[in-house]
Amino acid sequence: MPAEPIVLTTHEAHVSAKNEVVYEISVSHYQERAEERYAGNDQWLKPIISALGFAPGARAVDVGCAVGTNSLYLANQGYSVTGIDSSPLMISAARAAARNSGLTNRPRFVRQDFCTWVPVEEHERLFDLVLATAFVHLFPAPLDRDITDALLSHVAPGGAAIISTTVEPLHSQALRSKHDDDDPGPGPGQPLSQVRWRNNYTRETFRNLVERVAASRFGPTFTMAEHTSLDPARSQKQWSDIVVTRPF
Ligand SMILES: C[S@@+](CC[C@H](N)C(=O)[O-])C[C@H]1O[C@@H](n2cnc3c(N)ncnc32)[C@H](O)[C@@H]1O
Repeated sequence: MPAEPIVLTTHEAHVSAKNEVVYEISVSHYQERAEERYAGNDQWLKPIISALGFAPGARAVDVGCAVGTNSLYLANQGYSVTGIDSSPLMISAARAAARNSGLTNRPRFVRQDFCTWVPVEEHERLFDLVLATAFVHLFPAPLDRDITDALLSHVAPGGAAIISTTVEPLHSQALRSKHDDDDPGPGPGQPLSQVRWRNNYTRETFRNLVERVAASRFGPTFTMAEHTSLDPARSQKQWSDIVVTRPF
């Protein structure tokens, strides 16, 4: 069953507008790290997608794709990729990166707010792989549950979702400056005061969130695996990658 478009409360719309401003001015920050992050995917993303074992040409969507680093990596691994992001500047940068990539199967990048993304055609709606890294934590609870459900609604039968976040020892959620949580933050000349919403999940709260949503969407027969890793750039930060596989 497709997810319905998500209607935001006033508070959620306010938060979302703040997030949009922050990411619109963060393109150079993501571009500066793109090469290193692309290479890092050999250690992080490749083992996960190899274990999933999808055939070349499998369809993937990268939700909140920013400048397209992970989308390009998936395309390089043989996936047919759609990247979506609400930021026009991120999408322009992703398209430019795709043009310069030399890939013959360049990802398709679409500027789109994920909350209102309801493709009608099944071939545009269902994907073998749904990737959402550092995305769900941008949405205040309980909206994070709706977002997680919407992500899973795009997984084809037999397909999988990889949903990732950094995790913390204590659970909290608030509007935060990118600097507050030890993020390197926006590039030179960009205001330090920029804030965006950030849920700090613990490993348990993030796993429980994804597990509850997957159980309600897919019933008892889905499989779920959790991978944890240390952030290569910020060694005190831990990532949690939850892989949910939808039954046929
Ligand atoms: C923290 S960045 C993560 C980027 C990338 N996935 C990564 O791991 O590097 C979050 C991205 O999600 C995008 N974003 C935020 N809210 C969105 C929404 N409602 N719909 C689509 N994209 C959104 C932002 O523009 C930003 O590029």
